[in-house]
Amino acid sequence: MSTPLSNTLALWYAEHGRDLPWRQPSEICDQRPDAYRVWLSEIILQQTTVRQGTAYYLRFVQRWPSVSDLAAASEDEVLREWQGLGYYSRARNLHRAAQLIAQSGSFPSTYAELRALPGVGPYTAAAIASIAYGLPHAVVDGNVYRVLSRYYGIDTPIDTPEGRRLFAQLAQEELDLHDPARHNQALMDFGATQCTPHSPRCESCPLSSGCQALAAGHVDILPVKARRTQVQQLTLHYVLVHTPSGLYLRQRPQRGIWARLWELPTFDAVSTLLSPRSVRSLPESPSVWSLPESPADLGTYHHQLTHRAITCHASVLAVPEGTQVADYIHISWEELDDYALPRLILNIIAQWRNKHSA
Ligand code: ADE
Repeated sequence: MSTPLSNTLALWYAEHGRDLPWRQPSEICDQRPDAYRVWLSEIILQQTTVRQGTAYYLRFVQRWPSVSDLAAASEDEVLREWQGLGYYSRARNLHRAAQLIAQSGSFPSTYAELRALPGVGPYTAAAIASIAYGLPHAVVDGNVYRVLSRYYGIDTPIDTPEGRRLFAQLAQEELDLHDPARHNQALMDFGATQCTPHSPRCESCPLSSGCQALAAGHVDILPVKARRTQVQQLTLHYVLVHTPSGLYLRQRPQRGIWARLWELPTFDAVSTLLSPRSVRSLPESPSVWSLPESPADLGTYHHQLTHRAITCHASVLAVPEGTQVADYIHISWEELDDYALPRLILNIIAQWRNKHSA
């Protein structure tokens, strides 16, 4: 069963589909790629571009070629390998799921079993089920919303229950049951390289003659979203407290931003160090501190996460070897590579070290 849309996509994919490493057929099953690799690639690509995700994917499969290898790693090792990709709950879920799969003895092979894994939602379950096992589940992601809303000229907002239902049904109706893996991957590639969010390549598009949005001049306004994502403003103050041999870090809590990653001391830790009674009366900025050992300003860093705009005031403070900083541990410069830190904090440390060693 195929439709004009799925037929055209299949032809387009034969010519323009991307040659991506997780699409290689596995050695065991010579038709389809290995489910472990498909799953790994899908988790990495959940909030990451193919361009950035590919290098991470290759490092992961090189270090952990099978799901049992990944299960045998420590969570810290997995987080460290994930460093820089963001959304670290993905890495923790990946590791937990690997352990569950290793315990169960075989890789889940139905949509329902895949969906039950930590970190696997409807999109990821459909992607793995179709790509690794050829099962008839249509993926619905941003690419699919875009291609279908434009081709059919649908302005129902995609972030409403009605929109989600409508597009899920339409995507399933369009699915090419002869080759669900090819169909889903064709849609992903088509959305990523042809029917792009901005400046889509309509002049060379094989669907242009039937595209309702193009005919109505609505390409730029589809798909429609009911709500704009709220971006929360967050201000942080970090102090790079260091000795000649290393620096101080602590692990962040289990929940919230950067869960279980390692971070630099905040004002509280430093003020306790400098003056135990001043914790409650901290000024807003390090530049107004009057203590003789005030940290030196390292500048302001801006960091954008999907739902947060972070402004971070950074400073640096040298303390003698052997100093205790409550709640923080001393890590030698050589050991730093073993800890997973948010990119923002790595930038602060790297810039200071560059300047310092210059
Ligand atoms: N984005 C998410 N999954 C993908 C895949 N399997 N191929 C290309 N892009 C993707």
